[in-house]
Amino acid sequence: MARNQRVRVAVNGYGVIGKRVADAVALQDDMELIGVSDVVFDYRIRVAAERGYPIYASAMEKRPVMEEAGIPVVGTLDDLLRKVDVVVDCTPKGIGAKNKPLYEQAGVKAIFQGGEKHELTGLSFTAQVNYADALNRQFARVVSCNTTALCRVLNALQKRGWIKRARAVLLRRATDPWESHKNGMINTAVPETRVPSHQGPDAQTVLKGLDITTMAGAGPYNLSHLHYAMIETTRPVKLDELRHALWEEPRVAFVRWSNGLVALNAVIELMRDLRRPRNDMWEVAVWEDALAADERELYLTFQVHNEAITIPESIDAIRALCGIETDGARSIEKTNRSMGIVKNFFPRTIPAESVYAEMGRALPIAEREFLSEGFKGSEEPTRPVPTPAQSG
Ligand SMILES: NC(=O)c1ccc[n+]([C@@H]2O[C@H](COP(=O)([O-])OP(=O)(O)OC[C@H]3O[C@@H](n4cnc5c(N)ncnc54)[C@H](O)[C@@H]3O)[C@@H](O)[C@H]2O)c1
Repeated sequence: MARNQRVRVAVNGYGVIGKRVADAVALQDDMELIGVSDVVFDYRIRVAAERGYPIYASAMEKRPVMEEAGIPVVGTLDDLLRKVDVVVDCTPKGIGAKNKPLYEQAGVKAIFQGGEKHELTGLSFTAQVNYADALNRQFARVVSCNTTALCRVLNALQKRGWIKRARAVLLRRATDPWESHKNGMINTAVPETRVPSHQGPDAQTVLKGLDITTMAGAGPYNLSHLHYAMIETTRPVKLDELRHALWEEPRVAFVRWSNGLVALNAVIELMRDLRRPRNDMWEVAVWEDALAADERELYLTFQVHNEAITIPESIDAIRALCGIETDGARSIEKTNRSMGIVKNFFPRTIPAESVYAEMGRALPIAEREFLSEGFKGSEEPTRPVPTPAQSG
């Protein structure tokens, strides 16, 4: 597709993920949201009409029901697919797989979400890890919220050659806010009995060669997930190096307990106060003052806003599949700018330069430059053994 053409995008499934993807597509100057498609006729899809998005019926038999309810349906999914270059499938788990033949038949590119299996597309996507692999492909799958967070955080460490083996414990939210009346959990926590939980193997479909095991469970809250990661390293990694590596990684931002951000609700309250749409936090929030390192391992605690974190990934996946931007870093930057994704939530009172200077203070200048070059050059790992300065 020509570089100056706007990509025509459809969103099928206008739920938690789909409505956010639609809004994010509408923000891009190289994309055009042609329409959204669903099967419901309640307040959720009515909002799409309020936003002025053309609405399509994903199932032929749902069209009259939707129309009867006053939804301005302009056609069926088949009609929509004829008008677009790419569809972002945001339907519930398993329905995406059923939809794939429709997309094949229509000859459109398609992006699926984390509820679908890796095998559906053969490419599981996290922009900062494998953007180039998705270039001009017909299908890709954006990995789930938890896997996206693991991939971003562990990418910072893996590309530096630091990971010997990673272990993570995931405390998942019970349900999404919009359906808390249906599936709420009260005064309990539910451990998953399968080890590893699926997020570890899923992360391996993106971060090749990663040694990881995850364990998971769910608790009675709906604001976000909470992860604890313990990473055995190939050499002693200093805390300052870890902070620097995370600072250099896109879509990972620090929060601090010392700044009142002491819990999941506090961080989401911050998103509200920052007037983010739907309180969305697209970044992985890593507790900077909970980071720890010893001679063998690194320890990280981070918050994953499940409703929001994968949205920028879908935007980058559109650019990659349609080949309108061949450079992953440029796509990430463009998406970040359009959506307001930041490295630093408090640029006025805690300027980025001071954070950088503070965390880089203990690093030798050469190492700082090397780390930043490592980020730009992306995949090549740094030395697996400590420099004399580091071991000193
Ligand atoms: N909710 C999360 O936290 C989250 C995070 C990351 C990834 N995901 C993944 O994103 C995908 C969508 O999840 P969600 O949470 O947005 O679900 P959701 O239930 O909030 O939304 C799904 C939407 O699809 C519609 N739908 C149902 N059947 C349809 C059909 N046949 N055709 C078209 N539309 C149909 C529903 O009416 C609903 O509006 C899943 O693969 C899920 O695993 C969800």
